[in-house]
Amino acid sequence: MIRSVLRGVGSSLPRRIMKNADFEGIVETSDEWIVQRTGIRQRHIASDDETTASLGEAAARAALANAGLEATDIDLVILATSTPNRTFPATAVEIQKRLGMVRGFAFDMQAVCSGFLYALTTADLYIRGGMAKRVLVIGAETFSRLLDWTDRTTCVLFGDGAGAVVLEAAEGEGTPADRGIIAESLRSDGTHCEKLYVDGGPSTTGTVGHLRMEGREVFKHAVAMITDVIEDVFGQAGITADDIDWFVPHQANKRIIDGSARKLGIPDEKVVVTVDRHGNTSAASVPLALTEAVTDGRIKPGDLVLLEAMGGGFTWGAVLLRF
Ligand code: UT7
Repeated sequence: MIRSVLRGVGSSLPRRIMKNADFEGIVETSDEWIVQRTGIRQRHIASDDETTASLGEAAARAALANAGLEATDIDLVILATSTPNRTFPATAVEIQKRLGMVRGFAFDMQAVCSGFLYALTTADLYIRGGMAKRVLVIGAETFSRLLDWTDRTTCVLFGDGAGAVVLEAAEGEGTPADRGIIAESLRSDGTHCEKLYVDGGPSTTGTVGHLRMEGREVFKHAVAMITDVIEDVFGQAGITADDIDWFVPHQANKRIIDGSARKLGIPDEKVVVTVDRHGNTSAASVPLALTEAVTDGRIKPGDLVLLEAMGGGFTWGAVLLRF
């Protein structure tokens, strides 16, 4: 059977770093509160010349270089983002142009923080369906542009950045010993759509709007939703948490990461954490963390890697892959 194997990874972060202490003159907060409640110490914030398209392009170029491929080798680009450069065209086609890719096709996907998991799953289906051999999957965001910088309950939580992977079709045996994507599980439940949203849009206010969140409500559901889809992929693959080499969770809050790992029985030393340095970068968070752990040599060929995310919608999902 055809498997979608991860051939390359790459990431890009804005130049400017904003530390917790930098918020102390902007809103009533403290480094101590932010660290205790979220685990975040700093985040990268895009400057005027940095956009979702430019960060996505840089991450894509890094992933292509890591894979030893050119943009012309790619059949499909899927960009997961909730912060496109423009309402249309899709920022994915802007990235396609920036990469000099004059073949194939490109589109955006919008599932907020779960966007990269949705995009990875979609790419896998295009590959297994035979419509694409190599897919560039990018998660890129500039959430700083959606933030209400007077709202201390949200503005301290998010950051900007991009991560990308190149998926490639390869023959597998159809067992969890294969390299590539082994199992996937996606969910959404729109009854929660007022708990984490943006209060604007082209069809309603005609504006971009600002991010609004009932943080405690999101927190309350997060661990149960995350562990639900993870148990689903474990069931599909016939494995347990003990078989996992690396857990790469969505980086929203260290307490949510710790709670999920504890509930699943995954020890701390197998958990990749970047939230302390990146904050919540929405659809970019998982590919940023994955790239870091691959680049520093923690994740090695043959390792079983578990990815998950949960966010606005609510949307949530998990992907199990062998690197
Ligand atoms: O990507 C997925 C989407 N996002 C998430 O997963 C986020 C999920 N939620 C969370 O991570 C947490 O709920 C937060 C970090 C957002 C908040 O932590 P919490 O422990 O749930 O705090 P809380 O909302 O219950 O607020 C506790 C107190 C409140 O004051 P009072 O009402 O007790 O007087 C807040 O007003 O902390 C106050 N507070 C702050 N204080 C200092 C809220 N934000 C801040 C702040 N600095 N930045």
